[in-house]
Amino acid sequence: MRILVIGSGAREHAIVHSLAAGEHELHAAPGNPGIAAQATLHEVDPLDGAAVAGLATRLEAELVVVGPEAPLVAGVADAVRDVGIACFGPSAEAARLEGSKAFAKEVMAAAGVPTAMAHVCTTLDEVAAALDAFGAPHVVKDDGLAAGKGVVVTSDRDAALAHARTCLEGRPGAAVVVEEFLDGPEVSLFCLADGTDVVALAPAQDFKRALDGDEGPNTGGMGAYSPLPWAPHGLVDEVLGRVARPTIAEMQRRGTPFAGVLYCGLALTSRGLRVVEFNARFGDPETQVVLARLATPLAELLHAAATGHLADAADLHWRDEAAVTVVVAAHGYPGSVRAGDPVDGLAEAAEVPGVHVLHAGTAASDGGVVSAGGRVLSVVGVGANLAAARATAYEGVERIDLRGSHHRGDIALAAAEGRVTAPDGPEVDDDADDPDALISSGL
Ligand code: AMP
Ligand code: GLY
Repeated sequence: MRILVIGSGAREHAIVHSLAAGEHELHAAPGNPGIAAQATLHEVDPLDGAAVAGLATRLEAELVVVGPEAPLVAGVADAVRDVGIACFGPSAEAARLEGSKAFAKEVMAAAGVPTAMAHVCTTLDEVAAALDAFGAPHVVKDDGLAAGKGVVVTSDRDAALAHARTCLEGRPGAAVVVEEFLDGPEVSLFCLADGTDVVALAPAQDFKRALDGDEGPNTGGMGAYSPLPWAPHGLVDEVLGRVARPTIAEMQRRGTPFAGVLYCGLALTSRGLRVVEFNARFGDPETQVVLARLATPLAELLHAAATGHLADAADLHWRDEAAVTVVVAAHGYPGSVRAGDPVDGLAEAAEVPGVHVLHAGTAASDGGVVSAGGRVLSVVGVGANLAAARATAYEGVERIDLRGSHHRGDIALAAAEGRVTAPDGPEVDDDADDPDALISSGL
């Protein structure tokens, strides 16, 4: 198949890396120096639907895969489909499940999907009232896209109000969502949809905070792992039944069918499963570990989802291995970052058995690679279990030399040591005695 991947992060590198295992002609736009080793790069503004559709037409692409949310919200998938080319990624209308948290809440309410109680506020007075109604800890979210940085969770009421002020002031029409705090471990589950049918990939866990011990500000994600040995065995089926299928059905009912990845960000709370957020694309860095474990060919799966044939591709196969990824971030991330530092040790890291290094914010310079963004690399380690995968990933990270960079040292640590537990929420099925349930759900 001739495939064009849109985007330039480690998620897109992971997609290209996975597609490269098959006999395909791979193209990417704009891509990055890591992706360039496996695909032909093209200079196109990923937000320009006409330009992306024009490139796909010139290449005679049979499939376009749109990685990030911004092109989806901008209608790039619609533009590609309009020229008659299969596109993996939802329409702009359907991508509103990610593009507007208020819209996502409305769809969840209509579909009966369990989520945090929330108030959509357009004034600071409304915010203050909602903060007091829910009590601490406070959760305040920018309604629109914010690259994972629009959410503040804090017990400090003034800090919560200050974040709302930043989101609302000087932005006519802006809204913030104030919601109840959800306790319990988080799970990311990617559900592929073709508008009608839904197939779940393996669950993963992401580390959103910048510092060890889940301290510091929220980021786009500092690391991830899969599988989740602590997750309730019926979890995937429960998410499909109570979250993904009702949401896909509701989108279809509204005349805006969703085809692409419905990324379900979930909290397993003491009161049961709750949706924290929806995204309309693969998660970064969870994709890096989920695809490292997927044994089913990715190209055929994405093509089936893009063309309404997911029911034919529903039987997925998983490697009996664990994967851990550690993000190497630039000095200053998630604040303003320094670019242009040489990235050394890439070849040495890739020589560690079980390691592959995915590029995110990198640029080519004088025959070498320099940093060019906040999250610079995503180092993936695969091993027989989480402890082995973790040791492998960190051995790779140690070989990378990037001045001033930082990474978390505790990715997958608690899970590898058996210290993560899921609460026995009332709604979580417990069919732990059935080993087949474990395999069929990819856990
Ligand atoms: P979101 O962009 O909505 O995924 O939020 C980013 C992160 O903020 C989530 O992954 C959670 O760690 C945290 N968060 C969001 N909403 C809540 C909530 N209602 N309760 C507790 N933590 C939350
Ligand atoms: N890993 C979080 C995200 O992709 O939004």
